[in-house]
Amino acid sequence: MADDRLIVALDVPNALAGLELAQRIGDPVGFYKIGLGMLTGGGLALANELKQDHGKRIFLDMKLFDIGATIEAAVRGLAQFELDFLTVHGDPHVVKAACEGAAGSDMKILAVTVLTSLDRDDLDAAMMKGGAVPDLVVERAGRALESGADGVIASPQEAAAIRELGQSDGRLIVTPGVRPDGSDLDDQKRVATPSRAILNGADHIVIGRPVWQADSPSAAAQAILATLP
Ligand code: C5P
Repeated sequence: MADDRLIVALDVPNALAGLELAQRIGDPVGFYKIGLGMLTGGGLALANELKQDHGKRIFLDMKLFDIGATIEAAVRGLAQFELDFLTVHGDPHVVKAACEGAAGSDMKILAVTVLTSLDRDDLDAAMMKGGAVPDLVVERAGRALESGADGVIASPQEAAAIRELGQSDGRLIVTPGVRPDGSDLDDQKRVATPSRAILNGADHIVIGRPVWQADSPSAAAQAILATLP
């Protein structure tokens, strides 16, 4: 039985490469993330195939943002694909509309707080409210959860503070920005190890390159799973 706390990001260009990778990884991983980079490469078809034919769970990472009516319509359409998780930006109007669109399905709406690739300078450039990034993440998480999100996306460094919020009781915290000891940081900035992320309160960790760029993605995934508390 796969340990679904690990979600592997299939950040490869198309559905064929994604399916091949998932087949190389095999039984140890039961949960995959499909992102925008594969949207035009058959991402939704791959989601369906992994779900229906291989029994995998699917996290569709679309990070949707738009006016409420458009979000609701988009999410209602996506809800027909039997996805497990879908991301939207954590703005309250977006989260509320997404929850309306997902009503009646089992798809969970996860709210993006602040992208883990952004630092204070980036937020200034985007004219975002002042303050330390971790504080903004926790504040955005609280508002998204109050707006009905089933969970939030945050870096593992912020997971503990989000867990302390009353609003996060019974909700999910999903963390990218996870790096096994000794592996390359790539462009990740606010990182922690897989075990630290879980101990900080994450329900799921999302890991991409350290798995799919490994000589044996299956062995890399199993090595990560072996470190989880
Ligand atoms: O870095 P890694 O390959 O493990 O990325 C896994 C996922 O983390 C990516 O699919 C992306 O959604 C997310 N990511 C992020 N911040 C970055 C780079 C990637 O949150 N700086």
